Amino acid sequence: MSGMNHFTACFQSAPSVRVEAPGRINLIGEHIDYLGGCVMPIAIDRHLTVEAGVSPDNTFRIFPVGLGVSGPVEFVIEDCKIGADPGHAWLRYVFGVISGYRAAGVQVSAFEAAISTDLPTGAGLSSSAALETAVALVIEALTGVEQDVVDRALICQKAEHDFAGVPCGIMDQLAVGAGKEGHALLLDCSDLSFSHLPIPRGISVLTADTGVKHALGDGEYRKRRESCESALTILKADSFRGLSPGDIDAAGEALGDLLFRRARHAVTEMARVEAFASALKRGEVAALGRLMRESHESLRDDFEVSCEELDGLVEAAYDFGADRGLIGSRMTGGGFGGSTVSLVATESAQSLKEHLEKFYREKFARELNCFVTSAVDGAGFDSV
Ligand code: GLA
Repeated sequence: MSGMNHFTACFQSAPSVRVEAPGRINLIGEHIDYLGGCVMPIAIDRHLTVEAGVSPDNTFRIFPVGLGVSGPVEFVIEDCKIGADPGHAWLRYVFGVISGYRAAGVQVSAFEAAISTDLPTGAGLSSSAALETAVALVIEALTGVEQDVVDRALICQKAEHDFAGVPCGIMDQLAVGAGKEGHALLLDCSDLSFSHLPIPRGISVLTADTGVKHALGDGEYRKRRESCESALTILKADSFRGLSPGDIDAAGEALGDLLFRRARHAVTEMARVEAFASALKRGEVAALGRLMRESHESLRDDFEVSCEELDGLVEAAYDFGADRGLIGSRMTGGGFGGSTVSLVATESAQSLKEHLEKFYREKFARELNCFVTSAVDGAGFDSV
């Protein structure tokens, strides 16, 4: 386990709590969580671990192992303010969550913590949601005030909005919090209800991290969200749910090319999630692959959030072929870099991995971080 003993080495005492928060990969339903669509992520077996204990004074001390700081970063509760510059990007999430619990009336007192992780950061695998959720659980354990999984996710999402400046949806925080071993989460972002669908035996999930760092805070994510809102105003609708591709076609002229394509992605992706969930229930493997491919093309052409490396990897996966066990492949997460997700017959996962690694080395002259991922339970406590 990744977090073991870092706390003791740093603070010369035993931690009183250890939290493990997984990353997530999204099977389908991209850029529609903030539009009230349904999404289908899984929590993955790569974790961020936080070991923590109450601080002996009023100072918080947080040591992120492997993040290039030589010792704990210190702050006091008054520092956790919107607009404050904590000097480290990761600390914004910590500030945001502390501030969220205080706003919810929880008396948060200072704690010490060591953070370690085997979850790649900036890879579109929700390392920030894992950090937020882990800090949330530490606060709950130390204060004894437990939040419901949805309320916790909402506090974490707000931390991201207010402290990191990313107007994200709720998918990542709920996937990290409510994932279930062997299952995909089917989350309805219009009312935050969810269920779990089993991933059929014999299907493996392969993650391929391009190493191209995505920075959702750089404004493109916000622009996509705003374009969708502008499209809805023109369509005189509150939501894309209930609109059909025909409705978007009919409004083509009023929308103009850009908003038309953004709206078409929203509506078609919502339909694809529904079809994907039915295909998964019925084990219709060919339909899963077709829907993943269409999702990728829509993100690439209509929503314009892909990049050369993601497109190359998805094409390389389809070149590997259904006859050799490929089920489907697409970019996953916010885009502009990050990772692809492929579904593959379990016995072919290793050869697909080797195929993608070879392709990436030859085409982009860099190493691909590619690994088989399984669906795990959401964040929780581990024994100390
Ligand atoms: C990021 C956001 C999510 C979601 C995805 C795209 O991961 O944090 O809320 O919008 O992008 O599906």
